[in-house]
Amino acid sequence: MPEITYIEFNGNSHPVDVPEGFTVMEGAHKNGIPGIKAECGGSLTCATCHVYVDPAWTEKLSERSDIEEALLECAYDVRAESRLSCQIRVTTELDGLVVRMPEHQT
Ligand code: FES
Repeated sequence: MPEITYIEFNGNSHPVDVPEGFTVMEGAHKNGIPGIKAECGGSLTCATCHVYVDPAWTEKLSERSDIEEALLECAYDVRAESRLSCQIRVTTELDGLVVRMPEHQT
């Protein structure tokens, strides 16, 4: 099972195994990791699942969709490495992925 490491804004690190097919957002919720609200449950309407993806992993992710781009404009402290975690599908290729949470969600 791929291991995803979630790092809270305060530095607390949570390495957890996330089943393939889950999204990074779902992996956080199933493991009780704080910092990702995901108010819309992954239906791509809230932008409260914002994370920063370690740049070393950018190439392995699909590109942002137009809707994701638009929603990120509503997120807090958006950066080049910002993604909505409900749009990152976990695969074996993402074993070792590191994501960081912003100081707060929108
Ligand atoms: Fe709402 Fe990702 S959970 S946009």
